Amino acid sequence: MSGRNMKNQGPTMGGAVFWLAGCLLAGLATGCRRNLPHSILDPAGPQAAQIERLWWEMFTVYGMVFIMTLALLAWALLARPRERSALGPRFVVAAGIVIPTVILVIMLIMDLRASRAISTDRADMQVQVIGHGWWFEVRYPEHGLVDANEIHVPAGSMVRFELSSASMLHSFWIPRLGGKRDQLPDHPNELRLEASHPGVYHGVCTEYCAGQHARMAFRLVAHSRADFEAWLAARQQPPAEPADGKLRRGREAYLNGGCASCHSIQGVSEGDIGPDLTHVGSRLTLGAGQFDNSPGGLAGWIANPQALKPGNRMPPSYLTPDELHAIVHYLWSLK
Ligand code: CUA
Repeated sequence: MSGRNMKNQGPTMGGAVFWLAGCLLAGLATGCRRNLPHSILDPAGPQAAQIERLWWEMFTVYGMVFIMTLALLAWALLARPRERSALGPRFVVAAGIVIPTVILVIMLIMDLRASRAISTDRADMQVQVIGHGWWFEVRYPEHGLVDANEIHVPAGSMVRFELSSASMLHSFWIPRLGGKRDQLPDHPNELRLEASHPGVYHGVCTEYCAGQHARMAFRLVAHSRADFEAWLAARQQPPAEPADGKLRRGREAYLNGGCASCHSIQGVSEGDIGPDLTHVGSRLTLGAGQFDNSPGGLAGWIANPQALKPGNRMPPSYLTPDELHAIVHYLWSLK
């Protein structure tokens, strides 16, 4: 290698150091901000608080290792060859084997402590979540309720989630409430989480499941105890009979337009391919956490779901504008 090329290595390595430091700062500026719905650094439950604490412990220890490594790298780049060799093999053994081993043992202890603090046998409520391509079916076995892409729980209660999949591998994650857990087609997993306060918490599929993986999300709504009891009582009522002619036309159009062969509405249809629509009008989002629910959003989704979420299993509809309007009016009434 020519002397000129060797000289060029200095700026290149220095550039790499600045690039790494820049990435770290960018990560701090974006990933750590609070009030973001997917930030693990804004915990909303006891499990998430343990994970946040472990994160900060790891950040502190590994941040110090990173800074010391950069300092040594800078020294190695700037020192004269005679000064570099002065450190000798003892330094390599200490800094390359002994210190990393001690650090890793300390981190293992912190990790085990956090795992122990998170684990619990308590379960105040059961919720089954079944992954589909690409949405979440939600069942409340103790109450006989079925829903989709939305989970309702009382705040302050430990919820035992039974997680499985009816399609490919998915993974269930509510970043502000705790850790992730895989949803497997052939083996149910469980995860226990608690939301400390009422609120709406974002959940996502966090295992690549092809197609619309990035658009597979849900919401967990934590209610106060009284609000949850009211929600439960309302959900246990069958949907009301259509009160006027327009709603009845909407129900007819729903039954005749092909919707009923894939979707279920209690007492109306029993399709089991798409999400249950018994209370679709009260849902917060459409398309598995993708769009705010509204009559306009429902109409757009029904008219051409493939334009909004390509590859999902719902085909475009061939309804007349009147039929589409009537179906949306009917579905929106299902609160
Ligand atoms: Cu389901 Cu990724």
